[in-house]
Amino acid sequence: MNQLSDFYRDRVRSVLAASPLIPVITVNHPDQALPLCRALVEGGIRVLEITLRTPHGIRAIEQVRTAIPEAWVGAGTVTSITQYRDVESAGAQFVITPGVTEAILRFGVTSEASLLPGISTISELMMGHDLGYREFKFFPAEVSGGIPALKAFAGPFPDVSFCPTGGIRRDTAKDYLALDNVAAVGGTWLTPGDLVASGDWARISEIAHGSLLDL
Ligand code: 3PG
Repeated sequence: MNQLSDFYRDRVRSVLAASPLIPVITVNHPDQALPLCRALVEGGIRVLEITLRTPHGIRAIEQVRTAIPEAWVGAGTVTSITQYRDVESAGAQFVITPGVTEAILRFGVTSEASLLPGISTISELMMGHDLGYREFKFFPAEVSGGIPALKAFAGPFPDVSFCPTGGIRRDTAKDYLALDNVAAVGGTWLTPGDLVASGDWARISEIAHGSLLDL
């Protein structure tokens, strides 16, 4: 059986090690992606998850990859192999899925864009673990048991690290990051919709910077 190689596993580890906070970015207008990502990087963020929740996601990944080489640029909300191929072609360095299918897990094993598979149960984790994955997104974190669930996961799987997202906010990020098996946390609080819509990039940089200082 094909297993995830050390090379791709190290890539995911490098992504998670580069930034304790990972903004979950939705691009509602094509002109917003670059200034928004620049503002986040200006605030100290080094990993950008650009989601496919709107049709502008793929173009945004292409643009940001070229314009901001100092950041890790990945795709989020990838739910099919077709999307996985598309974001790989657009230059995504990593791919985050909200959940797993066997097909996506297998595709990720040999993909250039390393996969951070989303799980919310031990059974899903075990499917990925079998294929060599040791890093997972835990989603939706708060409603799936939050910190107590992550502590429980550490018992049977001491070799696994998580990036919890879903319901995490500026004032709870630190508590998640205090767990040994949490490598980074993600969320949308870093990209408030009203500030993005009004183009208040300075405020977005401040929120990113302040959120990192709070940790
Ligand atoms: C994700 O995909 O990680 C979530 O949409 C983030 O959820 P949040 O809005 O609760 O941060």
